[in-house]
Amino acid sequence: MTYQGLIHRYGQYLDLPAHTKNISLLEGNTPLIPMPRLSREFGCELFVKFEGLNPTGSFKDRGMTAAISEAVGRGAQTVICASTGNTAASAAAYAARAGLRAVVLIPEGKVAAGKLAGAVAYGAEVIQIQGSFDDALTLVVEITQKTPIALVNSINPFRIEGQKTAAFEICDVLGGAPDWLCLPVGNAGNITSYWAGFKQYQKGLPQVLGVQAAGAAPLVLGYPVEKPETVATAIRIGKPARGEQALEAAHESNGRIISVSDEEILSAQRILASEGVWVEPASAAGLAGLMAESVRGSFDASGKKVVVVCTGHGLKDPSIITESFQSPKIIPMNYDALLGMIGGV
Ligand code: F0G
Repeated sequence: MTYQGLIHRYGQYLDLPAHTKNISLLEGNTPLIPMPRLSREFGCELFVKFEGLNPTGSFKDRGMTAAISEAVGRGAQTVICASTGNTAASAAAYAARAGLRAVVLIPEGKVAAGKLAGAVAYGAEVIQIQGSFDDALTLVVEITQKTPIALVNSINPFRIEGQKTAAFEICDVLGGAPDWLCLPVGNAGNITSYWAGFKQYQKGLPQVLGVQAAGAAPLVLGYPVEKPETVATAIRIGKPARGEQALEAAHESNGRIISVSDEEILSAQRILASEGVWVEPASAAGLAGLMAESVRGSFDASGKKVVVVCTGHGLKDPSIITESFQSPKIIPMNYDALLGMIGGV
């Protein structure tokens, strides 16, 4: 049978109410890409779970199919979220599909071009707030408590239900859980979902390495960050809504949450691209964390199965790349000029 999306594929494992009306863009079923060069370097079997290949270019579609399906089934007409960009694009797409109105709140000037364009293209009402993601989330929580507007941030438990499916897919492909799972942590919904998913699926448990950006690392510091700052705008979050659960996942799994610098994130992004996988900066944090830990000698990957979760596509944030190189050279339209430019072949 052809693939029919996550609720169809894994619905029996998802705690969704009976009124749920399946709204799907055939999300999920993303590839677990073997990375032979990185595997050799770390002496392990390293895979990238490339979540950038979801319909709107990020892992958010897994949770959004569940959250929008539930919301539309109970008669909601408007959904709202705060977002650093990917949730906004995903909510906009699934709301469009369901015929709902979508309102998305984003921090002014801090959302990557591909995400903002997505939200607009899918027809969401996009509002910039003069504040951070955390401020936007506070506003969104308040309005959904006082009005019938449905909240589709990962505080919504159905988002977590949907996002558990990534853990199921990894187990199904590998025949069990990997030894390590490395992933970025922002508002901490994803790490919470993976851990819940692995526990529920009972095919083994990975150790979890959660990775925050150094300028937005409340879970490493142990206190909220008032003014989070990082090149990885997707995880520019100072007060994660599911912070406690993220720490629990790290602790229970005998893993940890660490932070990496923006330079380490961008370097990991380049390394992934050099092996054919272009991800947005935040998505490279998992690999950056793995690299930082192995340089410190606190991570022995040898002989292990390691899954690095790459949460969003590189196309989401092209300016990070285009700002760092000069425009391609221009040549006259003739063969000699081309050969001259290419040099020895
Ligand atoms: N990677 C990407 C590409 C993201 O967009 C996010 C979160 C994360 C990682 C972190 O996941 O929040 O579950 O810990 N983006 C949210 C958004 C905050 O609004 O799109 P998390």
